[in-house]
Amino acid sequence: MKNKGGAAGDKPGFEDGEGSVVAEKLRKEFDGLVAVDDLDLSIRRGTLYGMIGPNGSGKTTTIKIMVGRLKPTGGRARVLGEDVPIVERVADIGYMPQEMAIYTELTVSENLQLFGELYSMKPGPRAEREEELLSMVDLRERRHSLVSQLSGGMKHRVSLACSMIHDPEVLFLDEPTVGVDPELRVGFWQHFTDLKARGKTVIITTHYMDEAVRCDVVGMMRQGRLIAEGKPKELMERTSTSNLEDAFMEFSWRDAA
Ligand SMILES: Nc1ncnc2c1ncn2[C@@H]1O[C@H](COP(=O)(O)OP(=O)(O)O)[C@@H](O)[C@H]1O
Ligand SMILES: [Mg+2]
Repeated sequence: MKNKGGAAGDKPGFEDGEGSVVAEKLRKEFDGLVAVDDLDLSIRRGTLYGMIGPNGSGKTTTIKIMVGRLKPTGGRARVLGEDVPIVERVADIGYMPQEMAIYTELTVSENLQLFGELYSMKPGPRAEREEELLSMVDLRERRHSLVSQLSGGMKHRVSLACSMIHDPEVLFLDEPTVGVDPELRVGFWQHFTDLKARGKTVIITTHYMDEAVRCDVVGMMRQGRLIAEGKPKELMERTSTSNLEDAFMEFSWRDAA
């Protein structure tokens, strides 16, 4: 049966039971270095999914494959029922890369406009969305500033807003809160939770365990594989720990054993 629950089910190929983001034996090697090691993953629609793991565990590489920036060495990846790189539903995907990918010689507002235009948004809805996002990232007063003149944290916030301008079905955020003030981080997380409540799928990588614990499902990556996955509470219960950091350590030991 086709998913009739909303926008995610409008196109053929996206079955009810299939996750929004799926990896099957996904593999990526760089000159013999295995960055993603036969990864299996299935993320359901409407999930706020946190990907955690040490530097080099393959989080960014996995996301880059999902958004079509990198070609896998093997296996299969599907987003919204379409094999990557997806063509038909490219406007249904949002991506905030770990490295900055905005135009520093343009203003904040011009960047948002440009990204909106790339996704063929009409001027009205685009302008409305711009206001909403400028509030979210607390940059209303800096809208006419050149990005090159902003602080690192502000640039990061512009990048986040640009990735969300077209209100995508699936949003990949690679360390979206690095360098963001704690106060503003709270606002971000409120926004991510709202997105999920609207049936969007949000995949976030983070180093902050206090953030990971707010995700519906956490996937723990180690050496290109998923070593544990579940609700934060379950992961702590399964390891008799009281925080995700300790739970991660425990799963790592078990994995290495
Ligand atoms: N373009 C690349 N060329 C060679 N090695 C890479 C490249 N991108 C990533 N790697 C390697 O792949 C592994 C996984 O990296 P990455 O996906 O960035 O991990 P994470 O995002 O979890 O920190 C690391 O060992 C990294 O050095
Ligand atoms: Mg990374």
